[in-house]
Amino acid sequence: MRVVLVGPPGAGKGTQAGVLSEKLGVPHISSGELFRAHVEQATDLGREAKRYMDAGELVPDDVTNEMVRQRLAEDDARRGFLLDGFPRTVAQADVLGAYLRGRSADLDAVLEFEIPPRVVMDRLLERGRTDDTEDVIHRRFEVYRSETAPLLEYYADRLISIDAVGTVDEVTARALKALQALP
Ligand code: AP5
Repeated sequence: MRVVLVGPPGAGKGTQAGVLSEKLGVPHISSGELFRAHVEQATDLGREAKRYMDAGELVPDDVTNEMVRQRLAEDDARRGFLLDGFPRTVAQADVLGAYLRGRSADLDAVLEFEIPPRVVMDRLLERGRTDDTEDVIHRRFEVYRSETAPLLEYYADRLISIDAVGTVDEVTARALKALQALP
């Protein structure tokens, strides 16, 4: 199964992808986690990405696309994946589409996690990642609305909207039900 998870910062994409990955037997591939691993290892890419991440801005497409392409080319992603945080722009979605067509593959679904900003603000402030300050969270929301929300229209033919308000288990149950109903 090939699935993209879309949603605003703090919607629970990473949390749900971790659980769903175990249940569905496909890897969870998070562009944010890939970047954070580079930051931790102090690679050149990590140093470049950190500047953008700490400001709540998107890392440039060329860097992001190549990093995700390399991860998708690994063996465990052949049978499927849960992509969390990528694509995040229509240009990235075009790149992903071309990559999958080149492998005669396609996305089965795009799961949108719907949640109001007021619900996630406290969660993120409590988590306290370096990009979880109030100003940066506001900027991440703005970037989501302007750059990422257009993907909902782009993927309209395979979009499934999930109510992401509730406990982790409740949201997982909704997502699984929707994925299990796919043809
Ligand atoms: P990324 O790591 O993708 O951050 P994000 O999209 O802002 O998402 P978060 O990780 O904050 O939230 P989430 O929806 O995964 O929720 P989570 O499960 O963690 O990206 C970070 C940065 O990297 C970007 O700003 C950008 O700079 C760069 N980047 C990444 N991808 C890029 C791309 N494609 N192009 C360019 N740049 C890119 O949950 C959040 C918190 O809530 C956690 O503490 C969790 O425990 C808690 N929680 C989750 N679910 C629930 C629940 N149901 N109830 C209560 N608490 C919950």
